[in-house]
Amino acid sequence: TAQQLEFLKNSIKSIPDYPKPGILFRDVTSLLEDPQAFALSIELLVERYRDMGITKVVGTEARGFLFGAPVALGLGVGFVPVRKPGKLPRKTFAESYELEYGTDQLELHCDAISAGDRVLVVDDLLATGGTIEATVKLIRRAGGEVKHAAFVINLFDLSGEARLKAQGIESFSLVNFP
Ligand code: PRP
Ligand code: HPA
Repeated sequence: TAQQLEFLKNSIKSIPDYPKPGILFRDVTSLLEDPQAFALSIELLVERYRDMGITKVVGTEARGFLFGAPVALGLGVGFVPVRKPGKLPRKTFAESYELEYGTDQLELHCDAISAGDRVLVVDDLLATGGTIEATVKLIRRAGGEVKHAAFVINLFDLSGEARLKAQGIESFSLVNFP
């Protein structure tokens, strides 16, 4: 309901001038500290993707783990982490993505996703969409099908939804901020 979404929105603290002057940082850790808000965020995401044939949830290091893992449990499917370089012990695929300054990489275990998997990507926040674009490429290289990405927060001024749409991804977010 609109009231539930307003409750979630109000649980997210906004921090001026972090990490740099002029940035208003939306801090999802305050939502996690409130057990009712945390539980509600997971329930609403599970409700939305239940009965859609999802077979795996992928979450991206680090904050994507906090929401992706409980959503996977709620859907009754496995959770697969996408991690920063050098953290995963088995054979991996790697994709580079743009940071504000320079590039970084994300990795996925090659054998964690297989042909026929229908994957839901979960992250705490959608900004430019670069992180999730790289994540989607990794899932497709592993043979998975991915059409949906779910977020707690969408920073809509950064146009992440359009960027993901161009990759064939339908985005859904519980809370929207400019
Ligand atoms: C943040 C956030 C998203 C990503 C969104 O993660 O948790 O994953 O940035 O930005 P984008 O849409 O522009 O790619 P960050 O890279 O700061 O890593 P962390 O979760 O480890 O803090
Ligand atoms: N909050 C958290 N993560 C972010 C933000 C924000 O406002 N902007 C880009 N990444």
